[in-house]
Order: sequence, then structure tokens, then C-alpha cells
Amino acid sequence: MALKITVIGTGYLGATHAAAMAELGFEVLGLDVVPEKIEMLQRGEVPMYEPGLEDLLRRHVAGLEGSSGRLRFTTDFPEVAAFGDVHFLCVNTPQKHGEYACDMSYVESALASLAPHLRGPALVVGKSTVPVGSADRLAAYLAEHAPAGGDAELAWNPEFLREGFAVRDTLHPDRIVVGVRSERAEKLLREVYATPVEEGSPFVVTDFPTAELVKTSANSFLATKISFINAMAEVCEAADGDVAKLAEAIGYDDRIGRKFLRAGIGFGGGCLPKDIRAFMARAGELGADQALTFLREIDSINMRQRGRMVELTRQALGGGPFLGKRVAVLGATFKPDSDDVRDSPALNVAGQVHLQGAQVTVYDPKGMDNARRLFPTLGYADSALEAVRGADVVLHLTEWREFRELDPQVLGEAVSAKVVLDGRNALDPEVWRKAGWTYRAMGRPTA
Ligand code: UDX
Repeated sequence: MALKITVIGTGYLGATHAAAMAELGFEVLGLDVVPEKIEMLQRGEVPMYEPGLEDLLRRHVAGLEGSSGRLRFTTDFPEVAAFGDVHFLCVNTPQKHGEYACDMSYVESALASLAPHLRGPALVVGKSTVPVGSADRLAAYLAEHAPAGGDAELAWNPEFLREGFAVRDTLHPDRIVVGVRSERAEKLLREVYATPVEEGSPFVVTDFPTAELVKTSANSFLATKISFINAMAEVCEAADGDVAKLAEAIGYDDRIGRKFLRAGIGFGGGCLPKDIRAFMARAGELGADQALTFLREIDSINMRQRGRMVELTRQALGGGPFLGKRVAVLGATFKPDSDDVRDSPALNVAGQVHLQGAQVTVYDPKGMDNARRLFPTLGYADSALEAVRGADVVLHLTEWREFRELDPQVLGEAVSAKVVLDGRNALDPEVWRKAGWTYRAMGRPTA
């Protein structure tokens, strides 16, 4: 009989995982403690913008026309416990308020709500990003609190999905990593992931700590790559070099690779920044903090880029105070194809410029509602053209395709000064310069 799967927590990770499991042919029950989220999902609506996710969901949510009916949602833990053979924990692990460490309270409360109802054989699979050592502790908790005793087991299976590509990354992962303590756990997870494994996704079996560390070290590596190229951008600026050319040239070495070498205002979002901080905090607890002191530098290079963008803006406006200047900001989300503004470098820069007295008008294709909620005092416009109207400078801060396709000629007629600062090194300088604009970007020559 096909496995029955539950997914606990229906944010980016959980909603996508639940829909993907249904797509793979399993019966799936998703749970969230927020009833409004569950009501939306039951209608086949996704609480965030993620390309392709709503279609995938609608294909499977029970009760929707033409759906497979394999995907249902609930807020009831006993129902979940009774339903599933495999329970995926997909809850959030944010940064603790006022600390670097990771807040494990959602993971802990999910397990505390589930465990007492597990009466028969079950595999609980953690997907959330957690400090190394958590799985060991949670396994002990499960053994103690599940009536099934040893029949209720834990495994750790980190998730590597990227926002904007969540559906593709979940259905066709570039690797599947499982931390397990028994053959039974491995066998169950091989069954869950049989389709992607058949299609060629590598299946890496390891212990708990390694599985947990794979996730945090992968994110640390990515963050390091970005801060590395941003450090090179600073040097290029001092030496009159061109960081975009430099990235291209070093990227041809396939040991280095082209990806994640786009200099600009740096990384943000709900993962990279908090994950490297939690990793440092955990290494400190383990007495291995020296090994990760470099991450402190990665973090500070990254945060510095936001300030550098503000300074570049000030220079572009003549070097004086921001008071009375009009600044257009294109982009609010932390990356394109997402509506996520968590720790968004774009919104951070917009906020800093605004707090220093400029009149800031922001436009983003999908992030407007979230941006408004987080930063209600900024000005917002309904289109790029409206945002730039009368602007003394235009900041390009999130590299949406829509912005690359803008016609600098048309925009040029709306602004008060044709100055564009490309915080993502994603616009074509030649096109803008040809249309009479002053184009500037971090780590690149002035003209
Ligand atoms: C990241 C990891 O990529 C993913 O594997 C993990 O599961 C979760 O964290 P995500 O947060 O969706 O995914 O964003 P990602 O695509 O990694 O981008 C992170 C940030 O880095 C964005 O703000 C992006 O603009 C920035 N970035 C990326 C750069 O500044 N330069 C680059 O070259 C690439």
C-alpha cells in the first residue's frame, strides 16, 4: 500500500513539500496551527507568491474540480498522527530575538503536539534548518513521549529549496540528504523519494549531525561566495576595476564556477542571514567558534553593502543631505520571483535613504503588500514608471526581469535626472548609457 504522508507547517517549505508529495502520488495531509492558512490552502490558494505552486496545489487539493484529491489539510494533530506513516516537520526556525541563535520553539512545539498521539509505527522526518545536535535531542524526546515507543522514529532530511524555484527544487532536487539511525528509516525515505532518485537525484545517507551540518554548511558556502565577490567589488572600486568582468573571468574556472558571483547589495531573505548566524552561535556552544569566525566577516561584508549603496546614492545626489531629494526604488523583495521581504537588502536601503530625509517611492512586481506592511512610511507606486516620475535618482535593488526589460528612453522622459544606480549588476550599462543615463553600479567603472 502507498505510504501516507503528513506535512506539519505549511509555509514556503511545507506547502511546497505537501503539494510535491501529492504530485509524486502519495496521500498527503498537511497541518498548520494557523486556521486561516489552512482555509486558504483548502481553497487551493497559496499564502505567498511562489511560481507554479498554486497550480501544483490545485492539481491535488481534495474537493477542487479536476484535482487528484490526494491532498487535504487540517489543524488537528491527533488526525495527523493517526493518518501518517511518515510525518515531515516543516516549521520555521527563525533567529531568536536579540540573539544570533536559532529559535527552536516551533519545532519543539510541533513535536510535542505530535508525539503523544503516535500509537503505531511512524517515521518523523525533520526538514527544518536546525542547529547541529537538535535531531539527537528530538529523537530522545520522541522515544520518551510517543506511546509507540521505539516504533516511532526520527530522521533528518534537510531541505535545500530556493524561493522562486521551490516547486522545481522539491520535485527535482539536486540531492537528497537523509540522516538516519536505522535501515527501516532509510528504506521508508527511499520509498518517499523513489521518483526523484530514479530520475537521477543523488541520495546521500548519513548520520544526524552530518545531515544537519550539510544544510548549514551549504548556506554558509553560498553566503561566502556572495560576500567574496562583494569584497572584490570593493577592491575593484578602489582600483578602478570591473567586478562583473572579474566574476566572469574567474567563473570560467569550473572549480570556481559562475553562479552566485553577482556583486551587489548582498544577500537577504529568511535563510542565509539567520542560518550563518545560528551556525556561529552553535559552533560557539560546541567550543568550535574559531572555525567559524570567518562567517562574522562574511556577515559584515554583506551588511556593509547596504550602507555602501546608501553612500553611492548620496554621491549621485551631489554628496549633500538627502533632505528634499526624490529617490525611486525598483524592487523591494530580497530576490526576484518572490514576494518575500524578510531581511531584504532592497527594503533596507530604501528605508535608510528614507530615514535620512529623502522622499522614497518604491515599486515591486510582487512584494508591495509585504513591503507596505513592514515599512508603511515609504511611498509606493503601482508601476516602475510611476515610481520614477520626478526622481532625482533611480535605484535598481531587486533584479526582476520586468526591470531588465524597461525602456530607458521612456523612463528617461519621466525622471527629473537620468541617473540609475544598479544595486544588482543586472541592467545593461550600455543600453542605459546610450539612452543618456548616468549608470553606476557597485564595483564597476563609472563610464
Ligand atoms: C537559500 C539557499 O540558496 C537554499 O538552498 C536554501 O534552502 C535556503 O536559502 P533563498 O533564500 O531562496 O535560498 O535565496 P538564494 O537564491 O540563495 O539567494 C539569497 C540572496 O543572495 C538573495 O538576496 C540574492 O539576491 C542574493 N544573491 C544571490 C546575490 O547577492 N548574489 C548572487 O550571486 C546570488
